[in-house]
Amino acid sequence: MPRLRFPPGERSIEVPAGTLLIDAIREAGLPIARACGDDLVCGRCGVRVLSGRVRPQKPVELEAKRRNRVSDELRLACVIRVHDDLEVTADYWGELGR
Ligand code: FES
Repeated sequence: MPRLRFPPGERSIEVPAGTLLIDAIREAGLPIARACGDDLVCGRCGVRVLSGRVRPQKPVELEAKRRNRVSDELRLACVIRVHDDLEVTADYWGELGR
């Protein structure tokens, strides 16, 4: 099972391959911003993938980010399925997860 780490905190979890990243973040007990039903409307669930492989962005994710003025560096956690060990962070986590 892929292992996720959430720096700068030290929390880590394993999730079944194919788990949505936003669900894994919730399972780890970390806050994740969202204002839609995880369906690429709000663009609030942007996270930074620091290491590990995730699939390239599809046009629908790029369009959601453009529409919501989300930084190019961020990926939308509600469309990423976890298939690899990942390190993921969000600017507002700070020291959470220790
Ligand atoms: S939760 Fe709204 S776009 Fe991801």
